[in-house]
Amino acid sequence: MSVERLLETLRAREQEQVLRFWDRLPEGERAQLLGQLHALDFDLLARLTRELSAAGGAPAARIEPAPVIGLPKSADDLRRERDAKNAGVEALRKGRVAAFLVAGGQGTRLGFDGPKGAFEIGPVSERTLFQLHAEKIKALRKRHKTALPWVIMTSSANDAATRRYFEKRDYHGLGAESVRFIVQENMPAVDRRGKLLLESRSSLALAPNGHGGSIKALHDSGAVAWLRGQGVDTLHYFQVDNVLVKIADPVFVGYHLQAGAEMSSKVVRKRDWKEKVGVIGYLDGKLGVIEYSDLPEEQAKAVNKDGSLRFSAGSIAIHVLDLGFVERLNAGGFRLPYHKAEKAVPCVDEQGQPVKLKPGEKNGIKFETFVFDALPQAKAAVTMEVAREEEFAPVKNAEGEDSPATARAYLMRQYARWLDAAGQKVPRDAQGEPRLRLEISPLTSDDGSGLDRLGLPPLEAGTEVLL
Ligand code: UD1
Repeated sequence: MSVERLLETLRAREQEQVLRFWDRLPEGERAQLLGQLHALDFDLLARLTRELSAAGGAPAARIEPAPVIGLPKSADDLRRERDAKNAGVEALRKGRVAAFLVAGGQGTRLGFDGPKGAFEIGPVSERTLFQLHAEKIKALRKRHKTALPWVIMTSSANDAATRRYFEKRDYHGLGAESVRFIVQENMPAVDRRGKLLLESRSSLALAPNGHGGSIKALHDSGAVAWLRGQGVDTLHYFQVDNVLVKIADPVFVGYHLQAGAEMSSKVVRKRDWKEKVGVIGYLDGKLGVIEYSDLPEEQAKAVNKDGSLRFSAGSIAIHVLDLGFVERLNAGGFRLPYHKAEKAVPCVDEQGQPVKLKPGEKNGIKFETFVFDALPQAKAAVTMEVAREEEFAPVKNAEGEDSPATARAYLMRQYARWLDAAGQKVPRDAQGEPRLRLEISPLTSDDGSGLDRLGLPPLEAGTEVLL
């Protein structure tokens, strides 16, 4: 599109304010802005901004709990779990499974400068989130003698830094050819009237298009074809922030495959009705995630006969995706819905000066897609409950709940349970917390097995143990 045509489009869409500083821009900066504008889907933007001013929201959906494979209790449950595990292990051995990490988020809440995966989380060592995940993958490759390729989604804000991180650390020993980076797209931020915001005189205010963008990025980047070429048909999706994630858990993969599912999800029982996690349930008869902000208090508090929460299946953002489903979701264009979120968006004013926002002031709207919005389109789906203390400890905030401190505590408790089971007596305080700092590399053990063969000396309170 020529500059003239672009200007026409911008005028027609009442967005010509983005060229306010054009006459004063050096050539290189003009090229940057032009590139961003050319990449914009103006029809989509028009639709989304029209919806901003539309009165009222969608009518409330009828919501109901959905069936969940619970934690095994009976001998039958255990048998079913074993069968599922066998099916999962077989798929892994045949090279049908790949790991898929979404790490394109901006990690604003953690306040860490760099890709969140580079954050050091090891309770004793400087092991980063990326290293923790990489070593789990390495351990799985060895155990199941499988290629287990790893696709990592970044965004334009952290792609270069993420690639540099992995190059510098030699891909944590995984082999560069088995790790593939894909970049998600950006969406522009707008003000309340739907006008595109400028982050600087020569750049739109852009933000990653949400983790739902992973479905599009898998397809557009050629990663789907790359995976197919290796015989992969099943993806294990996880988020960068969960230190306890069981990557490519064969039980989960097995249940998914046995059910012929297109998309499956892991859940934990909600701590209490107030916990801020989405719940898996039926919305007007279709499986999906009901965001906590959309679950009316009365429903959130509702209990079953035994006193348990009616809506208790808290989504922990771990999924198995069938590759054919990913292809189907992209056939005829990407169709996940966009959610709008009011946020503080750094931008410049009409004079090109940075707008000073008051603390907590939200001046803009960002558009994001969520991967779980693909669930209603899945022909079959499995929801599986897992134990929180074994599988879910995210690093979201700098302090308090879901912080590095809580994630390290969860890790150390898990290591302590493994060591206890291996015959060690882990010294504990009155609350049962380990009285020493513990860390076990997934390369030493990723599930507690083999620790009894290490011939460890007795563990002493107040020490640090790195295995
Ligand atoms: C998310 C889920 C929530 C779930 C919780 C579990 C949503 C709206 N909510 O919350 O239901 O209980 O995780 O931890 O998703 N990401 C991208 N690109 C993006 C945005 C995010 O790759 O554009 C990645 C991040 O890097 C991260 C993950 O997605 O790995 C989660 O993002 P985050 O914004 O932290 O999700 P939450 O709102 O905490």
